[in-house]
Amino acid sequence: MKGLFTMWAARALLPRTLRAYCTSVPCPRPTQPPKVSIRDALVSQNPNGENVKVQGWVRSVRSQKEVLFLHINDGSSLEHLQIVADPSLGSCDLTFGSSVEIQGILVKSPYKKQNVELKADKIEVIGRCDPQTFPIKYKERFPLEYIRQYPHLRCRINALGSILRIRSEATDAIHSFFKANGYIHIHTPVITSNDCEGAGELFQVERSSKVKEPGKNFFDVPAFLTVSAQLHLEVMSGAFTQVFTFGPTFRAENSQSRRHLAEFYMVEAEMSFVESLQDLMQVMETLFKTTTETVLSNCPEDVELLHKFIAPGQKDKLEQMLKNKFLIISYTEAIEILKKASQNFTFTPKWGLDLQTEHEKYLVKYCGDIPVFVINYPFDLKPFYMRDNEDEPQHTVAAVDLLVPGVGELFGGSLREERFHLLQQRLARLGLIDTYQWYLDLRQFGSVPHGGFGMGFERYLQCILGVDNIRDVIPFPRFPHSCLL
Ligand code: 4AD
Ligand code: MG
Repeated sequence: MKGLFTMWAARALLPRTLRAYCTSVPCPRPTQPPKVSIRDALVSQNPNGENVKVQGWVRSVRSQKEVLFLHINDGSSLEHLQIVADPSLGSCDLTFGSSVEIQGILVKSPYKKQNVELKADKIEVIGRCDPQTFPIKYKERFPLEYIRQYPHLRCRINALGSILRIRSEATDAIHSFFKANGYIHIHTPVITSNDCEGAGELFQVERSSKVKEPGKNFFDVPAFLTVSAQLHLEVMSGAFTQVFTFGPTFRAENSQSRRHLAEFYMVEAEMSFVESLQDLMQVMETLFKTTTETVLSNCPEDVELLHKFIAPGQKDKLEQMLKNKFLIISYTEAIEILKKASQNFTFTPKWGLDLQTEHEKYLVKYCGDIPVFVINYPFDLKPFYMRDNEDEPQHTVAAVDLLVPGVGELFGGSLREERFHLLQQRLARLGLIDTYQWYLDLRQFGSVPHGGFGMGFERYLQCILGVDNIRDVIPFPRFPHSCLL
């Protein structure tokens, strides 16, 4: 930007004749070496003196009598690029955390640890960074919990860098998975007038009080931030057969737990012409395993850093998850297992009551730390859209949750009630016929057996990386009493 302005100013000052000349014949410009990312520089196979420019932030400075060593990182990889320079190119502004632009030639490094290094002939400090006041200190390793208080700076530490690069890669892998399997990506609304889960954990959307007209409501109906895109996906699966979405989701749950956020990302899929939970579980398991394999092969260094320093032992756990077929038990079996457990639970397990975190943990351990699908939950526990199994005496719906080690519930899904009369009865009992007339319509105009699921993306990252707190796998966590930045 600054460069462009200087060029414009220089041209404006040129005499008219010279300016006319310059518009027809391009002015010779000093040739700039091409800019390369540090990731690209590090993988160049046969560096033999290419002149390049790199930009980034200083991660270390080591000044010796004869030579100045720097490490530069630009976020494109975990590894830094080593810069070797004559000490005369250094300055007191060249400190840990400062931003720099460096020109020089890429050469094969004589050191074993790295493939290439940059022999600098020009070092420019773009932005200074006072090491006294910069909260991140050279060579100090910060616990994730401590660094959370600096949401504007924490992405500069290695662990957060790795987590967020993996997050980006996993996002791509999920999109690729659905594309490869014939799903259409739908942008579902963030603002909605329905409460899909019926749990009342909604954030309401209104104009701010400064512009609000008394007694008037912007949309004429109460509007909320979405808790799930499922109902909108059901509309779309009625035309496109297989659809998915992957977007922000909001829940006003008053929970400070290590696996709840007020704003999180959910991957949701909906499939028409699906008649069994088996088919749904197959997609969930393949989605989990394919995405994870892609992440492991595309970000090996980032994953290794986390498995080594943040979650020792996680590598083996993940291998077990990938190697084994996920297990399946019914909710009724789960309650039986919990009742027989020698462990004393805070919440006594009982048929008809929700599974608590402590129960989920126990079940996963009981299953040998392999993810386990729990299917067929009590009818009265689940939302109105789930398909009635019409069983007795323990009345259930065709619901499925996937429980995974370290996290508990990762996926929630179900077959949907596609039969008009059963859905109508259920909505009538809940007093929701008017609200969901459009949803009932779907059961009148070419209804098909269908089902789908939602996977919490942050919980997925926690599960594969072994990160204990969900607040560390999202760039800007939102939870009760905290909305920093
Ligand atoms: O089980 P849930 O509530 O299911 C639904 O919303 C379905 N309508 C999805 C569908 O079938 N399309 O949420 C799905 C997943 C949970 O299993 C969990 O992983 C995650 O979303 N999740 C949360 N993640 C972080 N913070 C929260 N507060 C979460 N609430 C749910
Ligand atoms: Mg759930």
